[in-house]
Amino acid sequence: MENNLPVNVREYQELAKKALPKMAYDYINGGAEDEHTLRENIAAYGRIILRPRVLVDVSKIDMSTTLLGYNMPSPIIVAPTGGHKLAHPEGEKATARAAASCNAIMVLSSGSSYKIEDVASSCNAIRFYQLYVYKWREVSERLVRRAESCGFKALVLTVDTPMLGRREADIRNKMVFPPSANLEELKKINVDTTGGSQLEGFARATLDPSLSWKDIEWLKSITTMPILLKGIAVEAGVAGVIVSNHGARQLDYAPATIAALEEVVKAVAGAVPVLVDGGIRRGTDVFKALALGARAVMVGRPVFFGLAARGEAGARHVIEMLNGELEVAMALCGCRSVGEITRSHVMTEGDRI
Ligand code: FNR
Repeated sequence: MENNLPVNVREYQELAKKALPKMAYDYINGGAEDEHTLRENIAAYGRIILRPRVLVDVSKIDMSTTLLGYNMPSPIIVAPTGGHKLAHPEGEKATARAAASCNAIMVLSSGSSYKIEDVASSCNAIRFYQLYVYKWREVSERLVRRAESCGFKALVLTVDTPMLGRREADIRNKMVFPPSANLEELKKINVDTTGGSQLEGFARATLDPSLSWKDIEWLKSITTMPILLKGIAVEAGVAGVIVSNHGARQLDYAPATIAALEEVVKAVAGAVPVLVDGGIRRGTDVFKALALGARAVMVGRPVFFGLAARGEAGARHVIEMLNGELEVAMALCGCRSVGEITRSHVMTEGDRI
C-alpha cells in the first residue's frame, strides 16, 4: 500500500470508504436531506473554468499568504470537523500533527474526541478553536478560556447550527458519536435519541437555538481572541467571515458556497478577510476560490478521509497533495504569488452569458 499511495483526494475517499464501518463513513461523507447542496458544493466548482496564461516565468511559485497577521505557507486551512476518533484512534491529535507538519492552521472542533489541552500539547500548529454556543453559557465560556490559555489564536464561531440539519444517513444508521471531550463539561444533559442519531439528540439537548447577533458582544467580552464567523454572516465587528454551509450538512438547498462567495466578498468590501469552505477537492478549486476573492479556504472531508485511510500520514498527504495541485494550477495560470491570482483567471457561468 505504501508504494501505491493515492494520487488525489477522490482516491483517499475510496480508501476511507473501504477502511471505515458504514456508520462512520456515512457520518463523514453525508449531507442534509436530499443532499442537493452536497452535490452542488462540488458541482459548482466544475462549472468554473480557468484561463491559462503562458510564457510567464514561473520558476518560483510562492503560495504563502497571511490571515489575522499569521503567515501561512499556503491558503489551505483544516476545517473543524468533530469526532476524529471515528476515523483513527489518535483522532484530532493525529490530524493536528499532520497540519503542524505542513505549517497549516487547524481549526479544532467543539466536537473533538480529544480534550483541547491534549490536542494543544501534541503539536505546535497555529490553532483556531471552533465554538458551538451551548445552552449553558458558562460551559462555552470555560471552553473559550481553556482554548485561550492553551495558546489558541482565534475563535471560529459556527452560526449555522441553531439545530442540527437532518442527516438522514445518520438517522437511519442510528449513528453513535464517539465520546466528545466536552461531554465532561456537559454531563448534566440527558440525550434523547428517539428516532434520531445520537449526534442529533446531543445537538438538540445542548446547542443554544437562541444564539443571535447580540451574543457576539458577549463572546467578545470574555476573550481577547479575534472571532471569525462561520456560516454566511457579516457585521458585528468580527475579524473575518467564513462562507460556509457546513459542508452541506445543515440547510439543504442552500447555495453552493463557491456560488455565494463573490457576493459576500463584494458586501464585505475588504473590511475583513473572507474565507470559504465546502466542496474543495482539488488545488484548482482552491485557485478558483482565491480568484473569486477568498483569502483562504478550509477543507473538511478530504483531511478526514486521509486520516481514516492512513492516519496522520494520510491527513498530511492530503494537505500536501492539495498544495502541490495549487502550485501547478498557479504555474499554468501564470501566477507566481497568490496576489497575482485575479478575477480574470476564472470564468463563471455568469461571465459566459
Ligand atoms: C463538519 N463541519 C463542522 N463544522 C463546525 O463548525 N463544527 C463541527 O464540529 C463540524 N463537524 C463536521 C464533521 C464532519 C464529518 C464534516 C464533514 C463537517 C463542517 C466543516 O467545518 C466544513 O464546513 C465542511 O466540512 C466543509 O466542506 P467539505 O470540505 O467537507 O466539503
